[in-house]
Amino acid sequence: MQGQELLEHKDFSGGSVVIFGSMNADYTVTTERLPAGGETVVGGPLTILPGGKSSNQAAAVARLGARAVMLGKLGTDANGDFLESQLVSAGVDMSSVVRWDGPSGATVITVDKHGENTIVLSAGANEHVDPAYVDSVQSQLAQGSVLGLCLESPMEAVTRAAEIAHQAGLTVVLNDSPFQGLLPAELIANVDLLLVNEHEMWQLIRHEGDQMPVLSGEGWWKRLDWAEIASRLKGVGFESVIVTLGSAGSMVLEDGSAEHVDAVSVKAVDTTGCGDSFMGAVLAGLATGSSLLDSAKMAAYVSAYAATGRGAQASYGNLEQVRAYFAQGGR
Ligand SMILES: Nc1ncnc2c1ncn2[C@@H]1O[C@H](COP(=O)(O)OP(=O)(O)O)[C@@H](O)[C@H]1O
Ligand SMILES: [Mg+2]
Repeated sequence: MQGQELLEHKDFSGGSVVIFGSMNADYTVTTERLPAGGETVVGGPLTILPGGKSSNQAAAVARLGARAVMLGKLGTDANGDFLESQLVSAGVDMSSVVRWDGPSGATVITVDKHGENTIVLSAGANEHVDPAYVDSVQSQLAQGSVLGLCLESPMEAVTRAAEIAHQAGLTVVLNDSPFQGLLPAELIANVDLLLVNEHEMWQLIRHEGDQMPVLSGEGWWKRLDWAEIASRLKGVGFESVIVTLGSAGSMVLEDGSAEHVDAVSVKAVDTTGCGDSFMGAVLAGLATGSSLLDSAKMAAYVSAYAATGRGAQASYGNLEQVRAYFAQGGR
C-alpha cells in the first residue's frame, strides 16, 4: 500500500512511545548576512520557538495521536515553562520531566537571506540528564512499547536508557544525531533500529581514505552501493536502519534488503524539523504494529507536511491535518 492510503486507515491511538532526551528553546533572527567576529548586524524580529530533537520527536508522536511520554530535564527559567506548555498543548505527557535549577536548553540561531545559518547550542538542563535520573524514571520507561533516543543528551544517560528499555522489551530506536563519532558498545547492543540522515550515515561507515560520495544532484542516491552501505552498517552493529535522504526520500535497510521510499513532493517553505517529524512518525508507526517500511512510507507524508510550514514543532500537523492536506492534492 502507498503511504497516503496507509495513513488514511491508520489509527495511532493505541501506541505508547517514550521519548528520552533534549528540549530547547530556539531563538532565531534573520539577517541580511551573518556577522563576522566582533561585528554587529541588524536583524529582523526575534522568534522563540520550541525545539530540541527529542522534544520535536515527542510532539510529532503526540500530534499523530499516539501516547508520547517525554523524559528529560527542563530548567527553572521562563523557557522551561514555555517548552512545557508547548509540549503539553501538543499532547505530550510531561509528568516525568523534572526541573534542574538553572537555564533550560536553548539555541541561538542566525539565518541570512540565502538561508545560511550559524547556531550556538547551550545545553542547559539537558546536560544534567544523568544515569541517576534514568534510574528514577525506570518504571515510566518500561511502560512504553517503543523508545526514541537521540544524542543531544549525555551519552551515559542515553546508554542507560537504552539498556533499561531493551531489557524491558521495548523497541529501541536511536537517532544518531548530532553525530558524535564512536558509540559505546553497550548502546549499540541495545538499539533495535538506527535512524540517520545521509551525512550521519556516511560519517558512521566511512573508512580512512574513502572518497566522499556525492550526496546531491538528480537521483544521487541511486549511485550509492546500498548493499555495501548495509554491510558496513552491519559491521558497526546495526542491522535495521532507516537513512533519510532529504527531498530524495529515505532508504529502509533490513534483512538484507534495501527499499527506497520516495519523498512526497510539496512546496517546501522550511525543512527544519523534517527529520524529527519523520522519526516521530516512525516511532508512532512501530508502536502501533506497522512494519518498518510502512512506517517510513507514512513518515514521508508526515515529514513532507512539516516542510510546508515554518519552524520545527510549530509546523507539525495532526493526523487530520496531514490527511486533509494530501487529500486535497497537497501544495
Ligand atoms: N523538501 C522536502 N520535500 C518533501 N519531503 C522532505 C523534504 N525535505 C525533507 N523531507 C522529508 O523529511 C525526511 C527527513 O529529512 P532529512 O533532511 O533527511 O532529515 P534531517 O533533517 O535529519 O537532515 C526525508 O526523508 C523526507 O521524507
Ligand atoms: Mg537533511
